[in-house]
Amino acid sequence: MSALVSIRDLTVTYRRDGNVVAALKNISLDIVAGERLAIIGESGSGKSTLALAIAGLLPASSAVGGRIEWPGLGRAPLLGRDIGFVFQDPSASLDPVMTIGKQIAEVARTHLGLTWSQAYAKAKTLLERVRLPDPDSALHAFPHQLSGGQKQRVAIAAAIAAGPKLLIADEATSALDTIVQAEIVALIRHLVAEDGMTLLFISHDIALAAQLAERIAVFRHGQLVELGTTARIVDAPTQAYTRTLLDAHIGLDAAPLLNRAGLSA
Ligand SMILES: Nc1ncnc2c1ncn2[C@@H]1O[C@H](COP(=O)(O)OP(=O)(O)OP(=O)(O)O)[C@@H](O)[C@H]1O
Ligand SMILES: [Mg+2]
Repeated sequence: MSALVSIRDLTVTYRRDGNVVAALKNISLDIVAGERLAIIGESGSGKSTLALAIAGLLPASSAVGGRIEWPGLGRAPLLGRDIGFVFQDPSASLDPVMTIGKQIAEVARTHLGLTWSQAYAKAKTLLERVRLPDPDSALHAFPHQLSGGQKQRVAIAAAIAAGPKLLIADEATSALDTIVQAEIVALIRHLVAEDGMTLLFISHDIALAAQLAERIAVFRHGQLVELGTTARIVDAPTQAYTRTLLDAHIGLDAAPLLNRAGLSA
């Protein structure tokens, strides 16, 4: 159980309209190398703030206390190379006026030192890996020519293009319909296993988190209220709040849904 990321006493506040919002309060948490860890909690509980803090993407209006260390890396991480980040809205990570091939190739070129032609070949392989139909023509397509689910596949391809150690997916499937959501969850699971990545999967949906994660951390009002294996959190939550999140879901077994989508877990 060696930590890829070690978070100690992390506190994040935002300044807004003269007020100070405490978004994270004294969070201590290890992300174990190779694990799939989910962060769940209601809106405003601090999930995205944690993801942004780990990725070094917090806005200038924030103040940070505590430490985030990378013992599993042995140096400061570089976003794009060591950390792949998939946002809820793929439009936030995709450039509307650049072809899909160029966007993915750019990541591979910047971080892996490939030539353009090597990087385009890599982009094509990545589009195949995220199972985008017709990767050859998709290389030359623009984001608006794709569906929401396809755009998210492209965003995932760009996020993993440099072979990051940590993949962070922040509500990456929340804007998608249920079937597409199940497909993307299955895809993330597959890619993470294939590349041996560590996954930080962020969701307000405990059922979705349980499909994908080996451990679940429950956040509420900026605090880590419960952390355990998925089986333990689902079968025997110690916190009433976790039980409330569980009770909001009827039937945690996602197998029927995945089967309907023609996928296996
Ligand atoms: N840039 C910001 N400026 C000011 N306050 C912010 C900012 N970003 C987040 N906050 C506040 O910090 C708290 C935590 O927000 P955060 O976005 O981390 O929650 P979340 O769990 O990701 O919520 P959601 O499920 O809605 O995405 C909330 O009170 C939010 O309003
Ligand atoms: Mg969020």
